[in-house]
Amino acid sequence: AQIQKGAFSHFMLKEIHEQSESVVNTMRGRINFDDRRVVLGGLRSQLANIRRSRRLIFIACGTSYHSCVATRALFAELTELPVSVELASTFLDEQMPVFRDDCCLYVSQSGETKDTLLALQYCKERGALCLGVTNTVGSTISRETHCGVHINAGPEISVASTKAYTSQFIALTMIALQLSDDNYAKLPRRNEVIDGLFNLSNDIKKTLALEPQLKALSKSEFGTDKSQNLILIGRGFQTATVLEGALKIKEVSYIHAEGINAGELKHGPLALIDEKMPIILVMPKDRHYSDSENALKQVTARYGNPVVVCNEDDDTALFSNLKTIRVPRTVDALQAIINVVPLQILSYYMAIDRGFDPDSPRNLAKSVTTA
Ligand code: G6P
Repeated sequence: AQIQKGAFSHFMLKEIHEQSESVVNTMRGRINFDDRRVVLGGLRSQLANIRRSRRLIFIACGTSYHSCVATRALFAELTELPVSVELASTFLDEQMPVFRDDCCLYVSQSGETKDTLLALQYCKERGALCLGVTNTVGSTISRETHCGVHINAGPEISVASTKAYTSQFIALTMIALQLSDDNYAKLPRRNEVIDGLFNLSNDIKKTLALEPQLKALSKSEFGTDKSQNLILIGRGFQTATVLEGALKIKEVSYIHAEGINAGELKHGPLALIDEKMPIILVMPKDRHYSDSENALKQVTARYGNPVVVCNEDDDTALFSNLKTIRVPRTVDALQAIINVVPLQILSYYMAIDRGFDPDSPRNLAKSVTTA
């Protein structure tokens, strides 16, 4: 059946709004919230082999790569395995060493991205165990991998990926939860994350309700009268959020947006900050908060005037002269799912304000099937 936009003017906006449901679809039948158990049927045959791997390598492109960056820390924390995250193109360029006891995870919405497929072929030839995380049943990556997980986000039409990102994030998180369920010491952390996943749909709903505010901010803070650059700053779990937020903004509004890890600010990017540079700072209340506070002070000392994405319960006086986007608070390792939503909405309105069609960004394709 043909997929319709319904009440929405664009697929991008429709898919952004679908996220309160698509995240539930990703978890359906896999997480039992009563006994806090995660069972991914697609991994069953290889579970013991995955656990025996000596390292995990995540390989992906574009937004899918960002979902790997976003979940790597929790993955390593829960599995206690070294986890590396690689862009498929770089991985191939560098002809990285891969061994029989490696487990490689290919994350791809379409399951057809050429570079990701080439990396899969490369690792299979070297005997690695290959696992697919895709949104497309029957896709080349889901057929060619030894086992895998479908993210079940439903078809994504918009070139700019939104609901696939949040569902990939959850799928990777569930894999980490299942792989670590034989480690009793991790039980409290696993339970905390599972409880966060239980509330996620509601938290996303509350975040989606910020749309009118974000539409207004798009005009007042990031309008056509402002600089055609935008810097997004975040740290720790939010590094992926600012990379993905910047990518969304580039893709649909053609603004030169850059996502910067706050830890790197003083190693160069600080030179870009002045009173005219539009800035978004993402700083939820987590263990990186005081580092983010430092970043905020460094930016405001250079007359930067950031819009801050923060938690709704954050009453610090530091934000008193700043515009804030206040989102619900969840577990640190899941907060990036909530925080990316306002950036997706902002990028959509920045495109609309400039008269661009966010569903058909210039020069881009939904699926890149050539190398
Ligand atoms: C293209 C799309 C992006 C996507 C990337 C990877 O560039 O425009 O939205 O993130 O490919 O695609 P995949 O299907 O492998 O996730």
